[in-house]
Amino acid sequence: MTDTDLIPAPGTVRLIPGAGGFVLDEATVIDAGPGTEATARWLRATLGAVTGLALPPGAGDDGETIRLRIDPSDAGHLGPEGYKLYVNGDDITIHGGGAAGVFWGAQTLRQLLGPDAFRRAPLTPGKEWAVSGTFVEDEPRFAWRGLMLDVARHFMPKDGVLRYLDLLAAHKLNVFHFHLTDDQGWRVQIKRYPKLTEVGSWRARTKFGHRASPLWEEKPHGGFYTQDDIREIVAYAAERHITVVPEIDIPGHSQAAIAAYPELGNTDAIDTTSLSVWDTWGVSKNVLAPTDNALRFYEGVFEELLELFPSEFIHVGGDECAKDQWKRSPTAQARIKELGLADEDELQSWFIRHFDNWLSARGRRLIGWDEILEGGLAEGAAVSSWRGYAGGITAARAGHDVVMCPEQQVYLDHRQDAGQDEPVPIGYVRTLEDVYRFEPVPPQLTEVEARHVIGTQANVWTEVMEDHARVDYQTFPRLAAFAEVAWSALPAPAERDFADFERRMAVHYGRLGALGVAYRPPTGPLPWQRRPGVLGRPIEGEPPNV
Ligand code: ACM
Repeated sequence: MTDTDLIPAPGTVRLIPGAGGFVLDEATVIDAGPGTEATARWLRATLGAVTGLALPPGAGDDGETIRLRIDPSDAGHLGPEGYKLYVNGDDITIHGGGAAGVFWGAQTLRQLLGPDAFRRAPLTPGKEWAVSGTFVEDEPRFAWRGLMLDVARHFMPKDGVLRYLDLLAAHKLNVFHFHLTDDQGWRVQIKRYPKLTEVGSWRARTKFGHRASPLWEEKPHGGFYTQDDIREIVAYAAERHITVVPEIDIPGHSQAAIAAYPELGNTDAIDTTSLSVWDTWGVSKNVLAPTDNALRFYEGVFEELLELFPSEFIHVGGDECAKDQWKRSPTAQARIKELGLADEDELQSWFIRHFDNWLSARGRRLIGWDEILEGGLAEGAAVSSWRGYAGGITAARAGHDVVMCPEQQVYLDHRQDAGQDEPVPIGYVRTLEDVYRFEPVPPQLTEVEARHVIGTQANVWTEVMEDHARVDYQTFPRLAAFAEVAWSALPAPAERDFADFERRMAVHYGRLGALGVAYRPPTGPLPWQRRPGVLGRPIEGEPPNV
């Protein structure tokens, strides 16, 4: 251990050699102040498992106590996610501005115990678990530090989702954007519409690789989360101070829903009864019909969703809605006329605005991909800026909150090296260093406008990631660089000390390995992680994603 190998880098970290160190042993107790009980449980579960110690509740003597306190006034002011961690021979104390701050301090403590603290059982019985005298003072740069995971293109069973929540927490990320529906699958049980999962959660076969690939995996793929699974996921996240933001994508990316309920589609433009859950990639032309029936249906979906997800923000997608069918549909054209709209783009905005108002009336806030800006939004709605910075800049200037997630920078499905061995050879080349130099706040914004950039997230689309090892490979180590961008007060991109980050990564790879993460090694993919010749390159003239 050195004094600065924490990731994400804290605001201040000092070794205090004169203070002595703290050793966890049979006498160690956890003294949890009001509001910190969940962090005490988490410490007992994680450090208890790896050390074999009981770490019971209590107030111990000198040398025995890990003390957790919410204390926003600690020597000045700690924000709700800020913390101070003091380690000396007498005790370990974590003061947080709020319960979340205490939890992030506990995450730092785990890192100080060394990479083996990230295992689930002791390697060596009787190993000494010591922390040097240390002081850490820390708080996040952004309130929204997110990861979006697409479980529609490839289903990730519940255990995998819980594991990702642990990985987010280990990196002090606090928003899990749960992409639950798409053309290729519907993943959340909606009790009043059982066919959404009976039909919509399964596809007969799957395109293997880029959409230009001639290969198919000829077996059914699918799965979904029951409402109890979702409640468990949300509760597990909440114990880790992570908010789960669900996404139901409308009015595009809806073929799985239309396959289940053909009346949701543009029945006067195509025969929607012949549709099945989509088996290839790209943007499906099968979108929701702009009818009262579709609006009422989705109000029903969102009613159940609001019961499950306490998040203030609810994501409605809104991206990539193909207009072909609306152009051919007499019903859609009549709706455009009746509403006095200029064209199909305005019809899409009308669809989104309906749910913007609907969610506002229920005390929630709508968030959507940046296409939703095109028709004007209700006050309070927010934008995920994915097609670059431009949507985010426009939104911030119009007074809307923004989550910056430009595909050119933080789409982790994109290749992380130009070499031919990359198993997912799609998109822009975005190396670990590129992600480390990503800046969420564009320089064009004034200070006041920049306050609308409430945070940033990395997005993981899973068309070519059929299992969690593939997701790990694309996500790590780049998520560690992203987490530092989201949490730490880094200088401007060109001035960032990537060599120091790499030095700390040498330790962090040990933590990821202990956690069982199948990250991309710095030397390139291991033989089993390669898939030479399988996926093909992007097609000339097409967008760089799949
Ligand atoms: C997106 O990548 N279509 C949001």
